[in-house]
Amino acid sequence: MLNYYEHGTYLTLAHSHAATFGAFGLLALGLGVYILRVVTPEAAWDPTWFRRSFRLSNVGLTVMVVGSLLPVGFLQLETVYEEGFAAGRDLDFHERPLVQTFSWARLPGDGLVICGALSFTAAAISHLRAVESDEADSRATPA
Ligand code: HEM
Ligand code: HEM
Repeated sequence: MLNYYEHGTYLTLAHSHAATFGAFGLLALGLGVYILRVVTPEAAWDPTWFRRSFRLSNVGLTVMVVGSLLPVGFLQLETVYEEGFAAGRDLDFHERPLVQTFSWARLPGDGLVICGALSFTAAAISHLRAVESDEADSRATPA
C-alpha cells in the first residue's frame, strides 16, 4: 500500500542512490583500493587521494540524499496523500519554488561525488603506473 504512494518518487531515488552507491559502490571502491594496496610496491604506496576520494564520495552522497532527494521525496509524498497519485508526478509539482530550491541543492552533493570519482581514478592510474614501472625494472634486472 505504501508503495502505491511513494513508488517512483524521489524517495525511490534517495533509496536507490543510498543503497546502490552507498552499499555496493563504496564496497567495490574499497575492494579496488585493497587490491591496489597489495600489488603496489611499498615505496610507491600513497593513500592521500584515496582518502580524499573516500571523504568526497561519502560527504557528497550524504548531501545528495539528505539535502535534496529526501526533502523533495517527502514533499512529493505529501502531495500524493493530499492531491492524489498524479499530482505528485506532475510538472507543476516540480516547478514549485521550494521543490526547485531542493532540486538545485543536488548540485553541491553531486559535484562532490563526481570529484570523489575523479580523485579515485587519478589515484588508481598513478598506482597502476607505479606497478608497471616496478615490473619493467624487475624485468631489466633479473635476479
Ligand atoms: C543494498 C541493498 C539494496 C539495494 C542496492 C536496493 C536498490 C534499489 C533500487 C535501485 C530500487 C529502484 C528500482 C526501480 O526504480 O526500478 C529499489 C527500489 C525499492 N527498494 Fe531497494 N535496494 C536495497 C535494499 C532494500 C531493502 C532492504 C528494502 C526494504 C526494506 C528495499 C525496498 C525497496 C522498495 C519498496 C523499492 C520500490 C520503491 C518504489 O516503488 O519506487 N530495498 N531498491
Ligand atoms: C553525481 C552523480 C550522480 C547523478 C547526477 C545521478 C543522477 C541520476 C538521475 C538524474 C537519475 C534518474 C532519475 C529519474 O529517473 O527521475 C538517476 C537514477 C539512478 N541512479 Fe544516479 N546519479 C549519480 C550517481 C549514481 C551512482 C554513483 C549510483 C550507483 C552506483 C547511481 C545509481 C542510480 C540508480 C540505481 C538509479 C535508478 C533509480 C530508479 O530506478 O528509480 N547513481 N541518477
